Amino acid sequence: MTNTALSQGPVDLIREAFHYQSRFAGSTMVFKIDFPVTEDPNFPLLMKDLALLAQTGFRVVIVPGAKEWIDTVLNEHGIVSNYSGAQRITQSAAMPFVEMAAFHVATRFMTALSGSRLDAVIGNFVRARGLGVVDGLDMESTGTVDKIFTGSINKILDLRMPPILPCIGLSAAGKPYNVASDEIALAAAAALGAAKLFIISLNGAFRKEGRRLPDDLETDENGRIVRLTPVEVEAILAVNGNAHGDRPLQELALALRASRAGVERIHIIDGREEGAVLRELFSNLGSGTMVYADAYESIRPLKSADIPDILRLMEPLMRQGILIRRDSVVIQEKKEDYAVFEIDGSIHACGALHEWGEDQGEIAAVATDMVYTDRGLGRRIVGYLIDKAKKKGLQRIFVLTIRTQDWFESLGFAEASVESLPEKRRKIYDKSRGSKVFSLDLD
Ligand SMILES: CC(C)(COP(=O)(O)OP(=O)(O)OC[C@H]1O[C@@H](n2cnc3c(N)ncnc32)[C@H](O)[C@@H]1OP(=O)(O)O)[C@@H](O)C(=O)NCCC(=O)NCCS
Repeated sequence: MTNTALSQGPVDLIREAFHYQSRFAGSTMVFKIDFPVTEDPNFPLLMKDLALLAQTGFRVVIVPGAKEWIDTVLNEHGIVSNYSGAQRITQSAAMPFVEMAAFHVATRFMTALSGSRLDAVIGNFVRARGLGVVDGLDMESTGTVDKIFTGSINKILDLRMPPILPCIGLSAAGKPYNVASDEIALAAAAALGAAKLFIISLNGAFRKEGRRLPDDLETDENGRIVRLTPVEVEAILAVNGNAHGDRPLQELALALRASRAGVERIHIIDGREEGAVLRELFSNLGSGTMVYADAYESIRPLKSADIPDILRLMEPLMRQGILIRRDSVVIQEKKEDYAVFEIDGSIHACGALHEWGEDQGEIAAVATDMVYTDRGLGRRIVGYLIDKAKKKGLQRIFVLTIRTQDWFESLGFAEASVESLPEKRRKIYDKSRGSKVFSLDLD
């Protein structure tokens, strides 16, 4: 990353902004904003920037943190909270006050957005369930996310209105629970397939001072760690021990979980810094710490233990004749050819690259879990297989398809003839299936 902000002319900045605007407009971004940020004089400016983003086509979701305000309200009513680790044990008697405080904070966001002439919707978008008894402690009205109502959220986003998710969830029977806003932000970002999660607090970028860190981390001249991969975050958390009570470490841990749940980029920024969100979004300089998953990081070679999982993915497609039938023996024989996309320990997409000689490879058995379609998993699996083919020195890859030609065309493949296939593959080409050949030159 180059530090060119000061030397950048306005035209370069505008160009850069347009580039990012066209790349991310239409994508969902979740903003988790801690309560102290709402008390800062720059809070209205932050809201103005979020309103601007929503008005220009970004799908903005807001998750307000309310911890400190809940503390204040409970104190005023003489209620002392007990904690289990960092988690408040919300007594059932305190719940009406917690709800009041949570909705009060959510309303502050709505009011600030209406100052920018933007309507927003505070809603019950979270179904919760009680945590029950943890380590012998009754967590009473403290809950966790059971389900995010993505359908309702998306309807509101389609109207260009930011949905606001207070830290309250309702059980299926309508009982309210206090749910940590970190958990809501994480679950919402994962369920909505968010392109980005912003963690906005008073801490801002993760810094080097006073920390034991791996040697090779990239920092700027002020000790700000500019970007981290999930693997680097894991290393930091491992060296610095338990995140309990250390909010910057907790924020990194949250970013790691979001990344593992499929959110590509997580930005940790200081909510007091004017324009921090815009700088982070629209310039390659940024002002916080970005945790980013390499596009192929969740993809790995197939292990024998994964075979039942990929058969489960492929079964409905094999039944419909979209994919040719394979069984576990056939897959095991060609195990090295397969790659899988894993999120949080489950497999959600797969694909294979079979070599046929004559410097050609076939991309096959590409399948995405139906619940995870349209999130770029298929594109990334094919991208990974193309990289693999290039590393093997192949000149050309091809695919035989009966239903997915448009998709492969959108990935740069072009129609080719059966005669162009390598001889070994041509010999077993099944005419009765009538598959079309699409190919991509790799030079
Ligand atoms: C094709 C398939 C792998 C795409 O997976 P995916 O993870 O949803 O793909 P991506 O998220 O990368 O791409 C989604 C985009 O492709 C489009 N798309 C999906 N299937 C398509 C098809 N059959 N034809 C044309 N476009 C298609 C989607 O509409 C979406 O478009 P958008 O980005 O403009 O919204 C998946 O739909 C699948 O498993 N299909 C059945 C198996 C198959 O046909 N395999 C290929 C033969 S080897």
